[in-house]
Amino acid sequence: MLDNDYKIPSHVAIILDGNGRWATKRGLKRSMGHKEGFETLKNISNYIFSKGVKILSVFAFSTENFKRDKEEVDYLMNLFIKNFKKLINKKNDAKIVFSGRRDNLSKEILDAIEETEEKTKNNKSHIFNICFNYGGRADIIDATKKIVDDCQKGKLDINNLTEDVYTQYLYNGIPDIDLLIRTSGEVRISNFMLYQAAYAEMYFPSTLFPDFSNDDFDLALDVYNKRNRRFGGINYEKKNN
Ligand code: FPP
Repeated sequence: MLDNDYKIPSHVAIILDGNGRWATKRGLKRSMGHKEGFETLKNISNYIFSKGVKILSVFAFSTENFKRDKEEVDYLMNLFIKNFKKLINKKNDAKIVFSGRRDNLSKEILDAIEETEEKTKNNKSHIFNICFNYGGRADIIDATKKIVDDCQKGKLDINNLTEDVYTQYLYNGIPDIDLLIRTSGEVRISNFMLYQAAYAEMYFPSTLFPDFSNDDFDLALDVYNKRNRRFGGINYEKKNN
């Protein structure tokens, strides 16, 4: 394959899975897997942006994850509070946004979210979308409520509601995913970005997230490049990625 034919997906999304198993395999507490997972995320996000990916979405915490043991949830919340802003990286110029419901979150979490968003709001090169207290169906329902509200207020004519307009009502208006990766060998999308995943190429490496390396991402890109994206057509690529 010629180098200039090599396609870089515009939007990559990752379901960060396998932290608990990574720790358990080593006789460690599950929380140690989350700690290591954070280090991996810091590294891999920079690498992914350096490859020219415009948007990176990650599933950091689902609404359902609140059902875990209190000890694990508390550990994760503290990890998020301390580390969200450590994802800010001057070199990659990424705007960090958070997608998900903001209700029922502690003040400390809300402050950490706000500070991180505020500090990066003028960054232009990339978008780092952190899905937190996130559910794909909730994303669609919340968008629908905003659409109904705008229609009632006369701000939107229902006849002008296209798929692209609908996208703008989703959390942060995040567009379609090109490449969706779930680590750890699980083969499902678990309520992650359901609307935006409609035509995503999916890749399910068995690597547990804390072990997911730059080389693993390069392999994902190679797999993506071998796929023939048809978008329901015969042999048609909708866009050049
Ligand atoms: C799923 O693995 C992972 C999570 C629920 C948490 C993911 C969080 C991180 C990687 C840290 C990110 C940090 C920031 C600041 C965004 P699991 O616990 O379900 O693993 P298992 O399936 O092996 O049990």
